[in-house]
Amino acid sequence: MRLFVTGGAGFIGSNFIRHMLAVYPGYEIVNFDKLTYAGNLDNLRDVERLAGYSFVRGDICDRRALDDALAGADAVINFAAESHVDRSIERASDFIETNVAGTQTLLDAARAAGVSRFVQISTDEVMGSCCDGEYFTEASPMRPNSPYAASKAAAEHLVRAAHITFGLDVVTTRASNNYGPYQFPEKLIPLMITNALEDKELPVYGDGLNVRDWLHVKDCCRAIDAVLHRGRSGEVYNIGSRAEKTNLEIVNTLLDLLGKPRSLIKFVTDRLGHDRRYATNPSRIENELDWRPEETFESGIEQTVRWYTGNSEWVARTRSGEYLQYYERMYGGR
Ligand code: NAD
Ligand code: DAU
Repeated sequence: MRLFVTGGAGFIGSNFIRHMLAVYPGYEIVNFDKLTYAGNLDNLRDVERLAGYSFVRGDICDRRALDDALAGADAVINFAAESHVDRSIERASDFIETNVAGTQTLLDAARAAGVSRFVQISTDEVMGSCCDGEYFTEASPMRPNSPYAASKAAAEHLVRAAHITFGLDVVTTRASNNYGPYQFPEKLIPLMITNALEDKELPVYGDGLNVRDWLHVKDCCRAIDAVLHRGRSGEVYNIGSRAEKTNLEIVNTLLDLLGKPRSLIKFVTDRLGHDRRYATNPSRIENELDWRPEETFESGIEQTVRWYTGNSEWVARTRSGEYLQYYERMYGGR
């Protein structure tokens, strides 16, 4: 099987490629990635020489590059996206370009290339904020609240339209918040770990009581693997681990694991339009595809802290250049 993975140099994409190469040594994997600020080939150093793996630098908005690279692909797994909510609030245009226009260009190219399956990596954020005691199913209405979430919702509609209009075999995943190795330190968990390691302030938005359902990236990759091979055509699958935590619980856990004082926490101005709670019901993937998370939050977060502590070179390289300017823009004087 030849898989065409877009955005494979990012956090989840690189973990997915590593997972697939380990589980299916006979598969060929083409990693097609633009290498934006979030794409990092260091994330794949340990697998880049494996026979089944190849890398093509390219943009999913570039139809000609896609036509060349897609030849012979059996399935497309579309991770490529602008993925950070705060950046979408600052400047939405890149999100519309890649997440919306890029997804349509990729759908067109995949159809022309005759791929057998298109997996769209979407997010639980398309359904917006969830009230206490409520759990979104795949049938819940889309109510995206950030430009990022709106762009991912638009992409989902385009994927569905390609299925209904042209009969393209598509499946969509909506995962909750992932954590684990190789996550760019703009996101909550790696940002807080790497700041704490430098004894820098930990900027908690608002009252710190927003809730997310934390899923280890290895479990997310196992779920995408199951959806790719066994998901029903045209369906959407929530991927969640029923591990809801407030941001403050996360930050306190990280400080305790690192042996750092809680006085490092600084409450800062809230994110605009900040979703209070994400919570999905993952029964469909559990029942239909027999998927369950294997990692508990307690052991997963401990391993994750150890990974960032033990990979100081990776951390130093990602927290340099553009990242420092971004950090100053986002947090300076906040
Ligand atoms: P990431 O930001 O770490 O990686 C995104 C990757 O896409 C990068 O390698 C980047 O270079 C590449 N990319 C960006 N624009 C591109 C373009 N135009 N053409 C080709 N490549 C391009 O993101 P992530 O956290 O790994 O998320 C991957 C996917 O999963 C995204 O679609 C995101 O919406 C979705 N998702 C993420 C989470 C999460 O918690 N991180 C949860 C649910 C869904
Ligand atoms: O739910 C899935 C989504 O999870 C994915 O689709 C997105 O790509 C991914 O970025 C993530 O979105 P969030 O906005 O939930 O993740 P983030 O890590 O940015 O923030 C998690 C929570 O932590 C959120 O409530 C905001 C808060 N936060 C975040 C940062 C970066 C802080 O309090 N301080 C911070 O500095």
